Amino acid sequence: MTEDDRRARAVTEAVAERRDLVNAAIDEDLPLAHPERLYEASRYLLEAGGKRLRPAVVLLVAEALSDVEPLSEDYRRFPTLSGEEIDLLKAAVSIEVIQSFTLIHDDIMDDDDLRRGVPAVHRAYDLETAILAGDTLYSKAFEIMLGTGAPPERAIKAIEALATTCTKICEGQALDVSFEGREDVGISEYMEMIELKTAVLYGAAASVPGIVLGADDETVSALCGYGLDVGRAFQIQDDVLDLTVASDRLGKQRGSDLVEGKRTLITLHATDQGVDVDGLVDAGSVETVTEADIDRAVAELEAAGSIDFARERASSLVERGKARLEVVPENEPRDLLCDLADYLIERGY
Ligand code: IPE
Ligand code: IPE
Ligand code: MG
Ligand code: MG
Ligand code: MG
Repeated sequence: MTEDDRRARAVTEAVAERRDLVNAAIDEDLPLAHPERLYEASRYLLEAGGKRLRPAVVLLVAEALSDVEPLSEDYRRFPTLSGEEIDLLKAAVSIEVIQSFTLIHDDIMDDDDLRRGVPAVHRAYDLETAILAGDTLYSKAFEIMLGTGAPPERAIKAIEALATTCTKICEGQALDVSFEGREDVGISEYMEMIELKTAVLYGAAASVPGIVLGADDETVSALCGYGLDVGRAFQIQDDVLDLTVASDRLGKQRGSDLVEGKRTLITLHATDQGVDVDGLVDAGSVETVTEADIDRAVAELEAAGSIDFARERASSLVERGKARLEVVPENEPRDLLCDLADYLIERGY
């Protein structure tokens, strides 16, 4: 096994170990209540799976800051830098609950039927229930974040960070939708859009543990910078995977971005190269577009160098993000955060 393989395996194991703990905590923190159909719909995607990358960032940052042995601490009674104990799993669950809320509403906006390998919430239930399930998760995330037991000043800061993050996600999603089919979207507009819709949640995942543990402002802002950079890279890779990975592996519909006329770094580059990106597939025909249509479109985008262009941009963002971790003590969890950054753009789903 090469050193790269060893590190890739270490990071997937690290995420998997933390995923199990987060899943058990989700069960506890989001109990079925009345009316049951609403709570079932709210829990449905969380139970369907998901990579749990963002809560893994929360837990790894906390471990790195506290310089504890990976997984050696009880996350429910995690020691802060000034000696109190907080429930760090609440912070991790809160971030993942926000992630699920955004996915439910995103699939309505993007008209996508498949999510985490199962029918999207608005398909498995109905539109009204999906909107409400998303709203329920959105507000529950704040209740859960309030339960960390952090000293009030830090708890308020964490809640403020979460609120700002959610506002920005809405702004980013609005831009994403408004770019559909527009022919003059520039790279800086795309970068702003993905920062808002996606990177800010990674920024919160990385900085909230710093806030609740009582890290200084410089550290919190460097952690946020790490999250933002790796989150930008993550979204660029998501755009690449939308084109290159089969639906059953991805757990969502391959080629959805092309059908919806989404603007990505790949299509922006291709447009610059003279490719008619809106003519690549028959837009709006999610039912009729075939694998062969998507394969043909991808071949054209590859020939224009657009997929490599996006990959290179993602890779330089990951390098910048990793460099921001220099403020954190050098330890195994910090190494895992660097490996996780690499994994975000090397992953195949
Ligand atoms: C999907 O995120 C939404 C984006 C921001 C692209 P993930 O790929 O992390 O989805 P799950 O949580 O693993 O399902
Ligand atoms: C999603 O971007 C961003 C949010 C969910 C906020 P996408 O629309 O690309 O995500 P997927 O590909 O559907 O997961
Ligand atoms: Mg989508
Ligand atoms: Mg979307
Ligand atoms: Mg996508």
